[in-house]
Amino acid sequence: MKKRSTKLPLMNTNRVSFIGASLSFSLIVAVHAEDITLAKLDVKTLVSKMTPLKGTTPAQWRVVWTGDASREATISWTTAEPGTKHIVHYGAESGGDDKKFALSQTCQSNGAYSIEQPKPQKPKEGESAAEAAKRNSRMKISPAYYHHARIKNLNPDTCYYFVLESDGEQSREFYFRTAPAEGDDFTLIHGGDSRSGHADRCRMNLRIAAQAASETKVLAFAHGGDYIVTGSKWEQWRLWLSQHELTTLKDGRVLPIIPTKGNHDGGKNGLYFEVFDLAEKTERWHTTMLGKDVALVTLDTNSAAGGAQAEWLEAEMRRLRPEVRWLLVQYHRPMYPAVKGPAKHAPIFCPLFDKYNVDIALESDGHCMKRTVPIRDGKKDPSGIVYVGEGGLGVGQRKTSEDRWYINDGGKAGSEHHVIQLDFTPDNMRVRFILMDGSVWDDHMIKVRKR
Ligand SMILES: [Fe+2]
Repeated sequence: MKKRSTKLPLMNTNRVSFIGASLSFSLIVAVHAEDITLAKLDVKTLVSKMTPLKGTTPAQWRVVWTGDASREATISWTTAEPGTKHIVHYGAESGGDDKKFALSQTCQSNGAYSIEQPKPQKPKEGESAAEAAKRNSRMKISPAYYHHARIKNLNPDTCYYFVLESDGEQSREFYFRTAPAEGDDFTLIHGGDSRSGHADRCRMNLRIAAQAASETKVLAFAHGGDYIVTGSKWEQWRLWLSQHELTTLKDGRVLPIIPTKGNHDGGKNGLYFEVFDLAEKTERWHTTMLGKDVALVTLDTNSAAGGAQAEWLEAEMRRLRPEVRWLLVQYHRPMYPAVKGPAKHAPIFCPLFDKYNVDIALESDGHCMKRTVPIRDGKKDPSGIVYVGEGGLGVGQRKTSEDRWYINDGGKAGSEHHVIQLDFTPDNMRVRFILMDGSVWDDHMIKVRKR
């Protein structure tokens, strides 16, 4: 095996100016969650690991899974200038110091993020037209460019090392692991609602990296939606994407992200779809196969439950349920919420979840912690479905409602930043709520269904 690259990403010099004074620059060396107490981490240190958007320096890297996670992935990044040649070099062995890899893939999709510029403002009282023009030009948002390399024919359960290259500018080396072809000896992390609370979002990103560093079976990160507050604003996605770099492990390991669309991720300019390389018309909902034994069905609570989505969901579950050991669903708005009212999708989705014996439903949007009792046909039933959530990746947490039967009679609710960790074994799914400090709020076992 060639020697692994240990270079850290470039220090950030300009990443956060657009979010005001709350985050400022720092030359403090990179931090890692295992080295520090996250809740006490000074925000100045949180930006130190992010790569500047400058020239064609590859930044904001992510690996996206939406299909066959054993054999395919999309590797994406951002540059400040459009560039002409964007390529990912990759292979099952490290490229070493000279970054030589067995394989490469030119990006199949490149383009400018659809940026809505702020409307020019009229001169303020006492301000000349020239001064107003200067002020308006300062408000202009710099362009940025996405690059997506869709790589296929991968081997299951294999680490793939990769380097991003845009017009000769190369990233450090990263790697991710593909899902196994069969079996379920791995762990998933789920979380939602990173839309506000930027310092806590960074801390939770470091928590995700720390979980994956300490529990090496963590394979991927499923995001339940509401990445940012206003989905049409590139400047908010830009911050989220740069901060997503913090989920990268010290040794370059990247957790593929399995995306869900939240109600804050909309906007006519379709940035959500540009960020995750999804087709706006056909990939609002999708299935990620984590090998042949685990399926994660992602739904869209921003689209109508009935019609095309319900037809797809029923056909998908009819096909999957006899085949997989674990059938998971994720979507943004809860069917059994601990704070708000239920999603209007519940009367259509829940009977299908019951009919096809879903093993767990992963929810977001409420900004709280919740594990319901097992529910079938709207009632507590040992054979029913446990609904967990509801989003704690940075957003302020809400007080949960005390009058919900499904969290009182054996269920549980609370209000802290968290991720949900799912450990699969042939007989059980262990469901743990991990808080920002790494402690466990809830540890629950779901038995595999008899087939
Ligand atoms: Fe939401």
